[in-house]
Amino acid sequence: MHGGVYNKIITGEMVMKYTITEAEEEDSEVIEELARICPPLRGGVCSTYEYLAICFKRYFLIAKKIDEAIGFIVGFPNIDKKNEGEVWIYQIAVCPKDQGLKIGFDLLTEELLRFSLGGYKKVKARILDSNYQSLGLFKKMGFEEIEKKGEWIEVEKRLD
Ligand SMILES: CC(C)(COP(=O)(O)OP(=O)(O)OC[C@H]1O[C@@H](n2cnc3c(N)ncnc32)[C@H](O)[C@@H]1OP(=O)(O)O)[C@@H](O)C(=O)NCCC(=O)NCCS
Repeated sequence: MHGGVYNKIITGEMVMKYTITEAEEEDSEVIEELARICPPLRGGVCSTYEYLAICFKRYFLIAKKIDEAIGFIVGFPNIDKKNEGEVWIYQIAVCPKDQGLKIGFDLLTEELLRFSLGGYKKVKARILDSNYQSLGLFKKMGFEEIEKKGEWIEVEKRLD
């Protein structure tokens, strides 16, 4: 189990401490709430997050400041592209008041590490073409634009 405790120096001596751990079924309500307050994310229903925590636990991570959920990421393999080792990021979000503090960066870094350890070769995601924050984050992490599907941009990063 990776993840762990992160210390962020915000201004001067002010330090924000938070953890990144695997999400539990019990976190699904707060994750649904987070998704709802983080547009343009399309929030899922609570029970969907419950099942994601059961079936894709190692790829479903939550960032918490003490007991407050401040971000999450969830991804899963493409079972029809198993031979190609393809996985997808389904959602990533950081609550608006904590955005810009590199929490999204830490969540995606941890997720990519886990995909690598799981033997996956290729990570994909779809991002709205107007979502400059998310496109900025994924490009910073080495993802490249590979296709445009309407208002969606498909991005990909190879892990090998
Ligand atoms: C996208 C999101 C997860 C980024 O999380 P974050 O913690 O705010 O981002 P970070 O502080 O880790 O920033 C990492 C990189 O992302 C990019 N980025 C973040 N905010 C940005 C902004 N407002 N404008 C441009 N690029 C931005 C930058 O490349 C940044 O690196 P830099 O600061 O060294 O330039 C967050 O903005 C969010 O939750 N948005 C709403 C939900 C969403 O759009 N999810 C993605 C759906 S595909």
